[in-house]
Amino acid sequence: MALLEVLVCFICGSVLLIYWTLSKRFSYFRNRGILHDKPSFIFGNVKEYRRTKNIYQILQEYYAKYKNTEKIVGFFLYFRKVVILLDLDLIKDICVKDFGNFTNRGNYYNKKDDPVAAHLFNLDGVDWRKMRTKLTPTFSSGKIKSTFPIIVDVANTLVEVLEDMQNSPLYDTDVGMEIEDLISHYTTDTIGSAAFGLDCGSLRDPNSKFSDISKTILDFRHNIIIVSLANIFPKVARILRIKILPEKVSKFFLNFVRQTVTFREQTGTQRNDFLNLLMELRKSGDLTMEEITAQVYIFFVAGYDTSSSTLTFCLYELALNQDIQNKARSEINEVLSAHKGILTYEAMIDMKYLLQIMYETMRKYVVTAFLLRQTAEDYFVPNTDYVIEKGMTVLLPVDAIHHDPDLYPNPKLFDPERFTAAEIEKRHPMAYLAFGRGPRNCIGSRFGKMEVLVGLCLLLKNFKFSATKKTQIPIKSSMFKLLRASEEGVYLKVEKL
Ligand code: HEM
Repeated sequence: MALLEVLVCFICGSVLLIYWTLSKRFSYFRNRGILHDKPSFIFGNVKEYRRTKNIYQILQEYYAKYKNTEKIVGFFLYFRKVVILLDLDLIKDICVKDFGNFTNRGNYYNKKDDPVAAHLFNLDGVDWRKMRTKLTPTFSSGKIKSTFPIIVDVANTLVEVLEDMQNSPLYDTDVGMEIEDLISHYTTDTIGSAAFGLDCGSLRDPNSKFSDISKTILDFRHNIIIVSLANIFPKVARILRIKILPEKVSKFFLNFVRQTVTFREQTGTQRNDFLNLLMELRKSGDLTMEEITAQVYIFFVAGYDTSSSTLTFCLYELALNQDIQNKARSEINEVLSAHKGILTYEAMIDMKYLLQIMYETMRKYVVTAFLLRQTAEDYFVPNTDYVIEKGMTVLLPVDAIHHDPDLYPNPKLFDPERFTAAEIEKRHPMAYLAFGRGPRNCIGSRFGKMEVLVGLCLLLKNFKFSATKKTQIPIKSSMFKLLRASEEGVYLKVEKL
């Protein structure tokens, strides 16, 4: 046989093999009687993703279509088979009662070649359990409370910077200021200070090293097909040494942590921050330098992007809802006068309406469209004939649940009254999943809330926010960012009070 014929046979054979494998994969749910939309070749059920729709829209539509008749449905995130949970009792079972079978997220990571990606969010099984136990004391309410003054300091700088920007001759009140970037500098600086005792300086210098690295992380577009394949074939991906993080980001964190730890060890520096606690775990032989770096990385990423997105969308809604903004400001002023004009931790706790506003923002603009868990053993879905097979990924459609009109009537309306204690009590506990649920929920939620509330309090006390001709109404979420972000920036008019 001529070389050309061999080549043609090989190519045809490979194409047929790929076609056969994908067809088999895409018929998985049909063969088990689990409903799902017909997947398209390669793209599964997310063909419109990043073209005409974002993941929030896709999942909201899917959820609305099936939620009244099904407890679970099938879905293909590209080639990755996923079971979407549509029933809140079932979600509760999986996150809490039967958590032992759903400890993992099943995210691909490669500890050997890409150690910074082996952080608490990605770790699975025994590794996750051990790490979570080691890190839990770092996030105790006492430890978090002790970082409160640091956050207030950074929030005061934010107020000063905003004042300077507002006084600048370049500020055009018809257009307003783009606040999304500015707020991300605030949260970068708070997490930098509180977690690593470091003045990132991104508020004062938007081109600082940390702003640059935050941007690289935020703008990094995963090659979704590669990640999807790595998730399905983690062993092969590890053999091929596939990495998840950009080299620049890994190097930056590995160098930064090594230098800071060495400096502190050599000079005997003790700081009241997360890194200090991680260093103590290293001393007792519980963590290696690479493991510390991975946790520092995830604290940094989870600590600035999530809170920054929440605070930005919150200010956007307050700009559109002046009555809510005024009510919030009245509360802030009243509580502060009751606390001698000083923003203390206790004063922040007393600002109940502000907390309701934050919760409502996190309902309407939850940072992650969905959460994932992976089955360790076959799981028999209670009161049905369905089995979720071992190794299957289950998806909790958080954003779709937060927009379910049966749970939140008129879901597009921004209404903090949904989060009075009485209203929360009336709803199913799984109707709100902004910080996840069960033992694998957000470990940093207290810190995240504090970043948002302190920022909100000092901004509203000092400024009035309103919409301009450049404010996108209704605001659209970016199709490309990993976590919730706006499509074209958030422009608001800012007036000093
Ligand atoms: C407004 C702020 C925040 C929001 C909305 C948020 C949201 C979330 C969500 C939804 C999860 C997944 C939970 C689940 O799967 O059940 C999560 C996990 C996590 N978050 Fe946060 N987060 C915030 C702030 C923070 C902060 C400040 C830190 C650290 C300093 C942090 C660190 C983590 C870590 C390490 C995990 C993984 C936990 C594990 O797998 O054991 N988060 N977060």
